[in-house]
Amino acid sequence: MCGIVAYIGKKRAAPVLLDGLKKLEYRGYDCAGVALLFDGKLEVFKRQGRVEALEPARTLAGNAGIGHTRWATHGAPSERNAHPHRYGRICLVHNGIIENADALRRECLARGERFSSDTDSEVAAHLIDGLYQEENDLLRAVRRACGRLSGSYAFAVLCEGREEVVCARMRSPLIVAKGEDGAFAASDIGAVAAPGRQGCVLEDGEFARLTREGAEVFDAHLHPVRRTFFSLGDEEALPGKGEYPHFMRKEIAEAPSAIEKTLFEAEKHINSQLCEVLCQTEYLDIVACGTAYHSGLCFQYAAERIAHIRTEVFSASEYRDLQPVAMPHTLTIAVSQSGETADTLAAAQAAKARGCRVLAVTNVARSSLERAADFVLPTRAGREVAVAATKSFQAQLAALYVLCTQLAKGRNLPAPSLAGLAVLAAETLARSAAVEAWVPLFCEARSVFFLGRGADRCAALEGSLKLKEISYLPSEGYAAGELKHGTLALVDGRTPVVAVVCDEALADRTMNAVHEVYARGAPVFLVTPFEALARAREVTACALIPRCDPAFSPMLSVIPLQLLAYHVALACGNDPDKPRNLAKSVTVE
Ligand code: AGP
Repeated sequence: MCGIVAYIGKKRAAPVLLDGLKKLEYRGYDCAGVALLFDGKLEVFKRQGRVEALEPARTLAGNAGIGHTRWATHGAPSERNAHPHRYGRICLVHNGIIENADALRRECLARGERFSSDTDSEVAAHLIDGLYQEENDLLRAVRRACGRLSGSYAFAVLCEGREEVVCARMRSPLIVAKGEDGAFAASDIGAVAAPGRQGCVLEDGEFARLTREGAEVFDAHLHPVRRTFFSLGDEEALPGKGEYPHFMRKEIAEAPSAIEKTLFEAEKHINSQLCEVLCQTEYLDIVACGTAYHSGLCFQYAAERIAHIRTEVFSASEYRDLQPVAMPHTLTIAVSQSGETADTLAAAQAAKARGCRVLAVTNVARSSLERAADFVLPTRAGREVAVAATKSFQAQLAALYVLCTQLAKGRNLPAPSLAGLAVLAAETLARSAAVEAWVPLFCEARSVFFLGRGADRCAALEGSLKLKEISYLPSEGYAAGELKHGTLALVDGRTPVVAVVCDEALADRTMNAVHEVYARGAPVFLVTPFEALARAREVTACALIPRCDPAFSPMLSVIPLQLLAYHVALACGNDPDKPRNLAKSVTVE
């Protein structure tokens, strides 16, 4: 997703902007740019490709500037469409989607204005420039322009001749910060965190004006707002890779610690108020996207099986359109690593509008989702830099499994222990190195299928997503019993099949699917704790993992699948940390 950095202060802005953009690279992007204000004049420098391409701009003069990494929504990835966008005296960067951009563009064209990009964002520069000529005040011009926009935006705006940066936020995260060395704005805290700085998260509809003296916040009526600025000094800076070649490989290895810390933290966060709500809860709705959606599916299996509570899982992007019947005493659980996923935020707000209480399971403190929810169950996975979610998935499972056991206790039902899962995850990591040898058969695959039943199916779905998103291989996670009802037609010698079999009660039936695909020539790879299955003649190779309660088995079975995806991506020549087209946090709907 797009990244924004803005600065004004004592120092030259260019180095501050470029270093800030480097800290936002993990979000995923395709082009980048900066604009500097020097001696009242604007200079824009933007390139397609990586932030490194902006290095020639590091020596540019000027103590005020804005920077941007662009993840394309409207307009192809190109230098022409890179931000900042400039029109007249105005220059801006934008994160979000202006939904009425086409109509506004036509209005500008009708006035004889010409556009230099295909983006929705440039429309805002045209609007602000026109209104600035009326107002001769940048903050008021930005406020009036935002009144014309529908959709989502986070803006940082410069104007020739004005030593200030004006910011605006609507459904796209933006933090403002201040320190001895000046004032800042950024899409996420990591880009501006430093000892001695304080920050605050702009709320929807708020504006900010950054000057050398600091940062002021204004409400939608441009009345000053007194906001509490929190210290950014102890914010987790962007971690390094340590001895690992990639963040993803490091983060896979950090899963046991993420599990252990989250289990400990979750127990603390289930307070009496939340316990009371859980006791009154009769239905659970889960809203999430991508990997978080898969952790919701894993939780659903455990909650129904252990806590006997009706649970439904929704793709957050579908939730509002489905308009599910609001059952009484429904608790909606919104799961999101970033806490900024627009679809999940929108679903959580829709649930609240329908009278449901919302519990957020998220990995980022002070995220939009955390601030929107009634209750929070934080995960403690630490910063997850790779776009592909790994340790955050297991951390989500840890928090959700604690919730599941709490629900069971509230219903006087026995709940399996979660103690030892972190140790078992470490053991699984140690045993999964063998999957690297599977890689050659996957690199030539026409497509790959991941099969499982029950909780194993959930792990299979997550394993498939991991492989797709970083190797770019076509892949599908499938209920093992469903394959023969059509999809089996796709199976042949060029479609490796990974079967997850961690529930003894379901093993025979899942192995039926293994026999079916083996009979069609597909090489079969097994993830299982059962040695007898590993010796089956249909099995090409097996990742033998430790046993645990079947309801919690995705916590372990996902590990070899994550490693498989990582090694196949490398063999395909891809950067597993920054897969093409993807962003770490999708803050647009
Ligand atoms: C998973 O590897 C992807 N990065 C993606 O599916 C992600 O899980 C999804 O976009 C949800 O993100 P969130 O957890 O930050 O809401």
